[in-house]
Amino acid sequence: MAGSGEQWWRDAVIYQVYPRSWADSDGDGIGDLPGITTRLPHLADLGVDAVWLSPFYTSPQRDAGYDVADYRDVDPVFGDLAAFDALMARAHELGLRVIVDIVPNHSSSDHAWFKAALASKPGSAERARYIFRDGGDGGEQPPNNWQSLFGGPAWTRVTEPDGTPGQWYLHLFDTSQPDFDWTNAEVRGELEDVLRFWLDRGVDGFRIDVAHGLVKADGLPDSEHDQWSEPTALAPMWDQPGVHDIYGSWRRITDSYAVDGEDADRILCAEAWVLPAEALARYVRHDELHQSFNFEYLMTPWLADDQRRTITHSLAQAEAVGAPQTWVLSNHDVVRHASRLGYPQQPGLHRVEGIGADDQQPDAELGLRRARAATAVMLALPGSAYLFQGEELGLPEATQLPDESRQDPTFARTGGASKGRDGCRVPVPWEADAPSYGFGPGDQPWLPQPPEYGPLAADPQRGVLGSTLELYRTLLALRHALRLGRGNLTWLDGFPDTVLAFAVTSAAGEVTVLANLGDQPLALPDGTTVLASSQPLEPGAPLGTDETVWLHL
Ligand code: GLC
Repeated sequence: MAGSGEQWWRDAVIYQVYPRSWADSDGDGIGDLPGITTRLPHLADLGVDAVWLSPFYTSPQRDAGYDVADYRDVDPVFGDLAAFDALMARAHELGLRVIVDIVPNHSSSDHAWFKAALASKPGSAERARYIFRDGGDGGEQPPNNWQSLFGGPAWTRVTEPDGTPGQWYLHLFDTSQPDFDWTNAEVRGELEDVLRFWLDRGVDGFRIDVAHGLVKADGLPDSEHDQWSEPTALAPMWDQPGVHDIYGSWRRITDSYAVDGEDADRILCAEAWVLPAEALARYVRHDELHQSFNFEYLMTPWLADDQRRTITHSLAQAEAVGAPQTWVLSNHDVVRHASRLGYPQQPGLHRVEGIGADDQQPDAELGLRRARAATAVMLALPGSAYLFQGEELGLPEATQLPDESRQDPTFARTGGASKGRDGCRVPVPWEADAPSYGFGPGDQPWLPQPPEYGPLAADPQRGVLGSTLELYRTLLALRHALRLGRGNLTWLDGFPDTVLAFAVTSAAGEVTVLANLGDQPLALPDGTTVLASSQPLEPGAPLGTDETVWLHL
């Protein structure tokens, strides 16, 4: 794939594959790279531009691969480097770009560097690649009050090689995920080299895990705020100014791979849970990253005022730095939007993680109806959009997983208080009547699939008018033909406040989008042509509650 000269990523739709759960070729119950390769035609047929693969590197899988033991190899559970090359070649043949995950904030505790650090003395060069500190109160207490995002303290005490209780190391996530020290030039050099390794193998870009966490405030001061709910600017482990310098160097690396001097063909996208949007926009200045995920949009409730505010604000912030805005409704860390939207909606931003059998259950029908309407809003918006595997099938969250099957470390680290993220990671159904719904030849997928996944499998939806799969295909085809991702959005007057009404105009055409979030049916303007609708719509019929329509006026 040569450079297009058009900065393909500015309006790309990028589909996230979670390798454990997409397609299993060998029947061991865990998805793998050869499985992905076989199923790639599904993505070409769906009409997306690129695929983003969550980590498939060598890993003990204590955080499902976000704990990397070797950044330059494939874990045997997923295949090998030859299988990766085959996947890349097939994707490019089908016209799909491939983005891989890079996990620079921490390694696995199985990484050779961390093992060397444990075997070495305090103050050694081996320890200096991570964040080791002496404890307080004679060494007994953690060096500061930081908490792990997965529950419990962010520090673990080690036993020194001579058998005595020793220093503590920092892990913002699981104990098996020690944070690197990014003030160390060796760390910087190593991760840059890893970028080059995958760029040389032909990848089209990287999704940067925990991009806002790499640099910690000098002196590691106590956190005086609730580090997970306050604006990130206040917390000493998030969004420190030093991260921007790192991404400036990374951008120079990806730019150096531009084909024939064309601008930035290989891209960098930040996973940065940073608020407010002004702070997030700093990551996508012209000499830093190309994109960052718009989690503010993901966290915005399905309420017309909130939606309008977030969309307007998001577009303005991105435009101010000349970056495309991105949009996302689901990923492997949050409750799927077909379930999230099945609850009553409250104003404000909400991050929802994990639903258990004893929790209040979402209204599945309402959730799917709203999810389809929300997707039809998202795919009309200017910029780039991210889809999470299975949302094109309308998959709900698996809310009834037995606790014994849960594998997200969050579940164990919070003593079950947080159900964790397994519910959105359940293997994808491809065929209604096959073992594991066609996920693989075995019938024991690593997480059990709920019975409602059968009728939602891809095969029974393919070619069926009104199915969620066909809705996605229609929206993606229109979005592409009308170049909506390159368009400009204008809000339209003359509609009730509970209706999102906007036009998107590009060089290739225009579409008017109406989304009815109110409880009254909305008569469509006279003389309009319906291009697509989130629910089947009879000619002349009004737009019902929680329905979105794309029109030509
Ligand atoms: C990111 C990933 C998440 C992972 C965490 C630690 O937030 O998306 O799945 O657990 O980083 O690497």
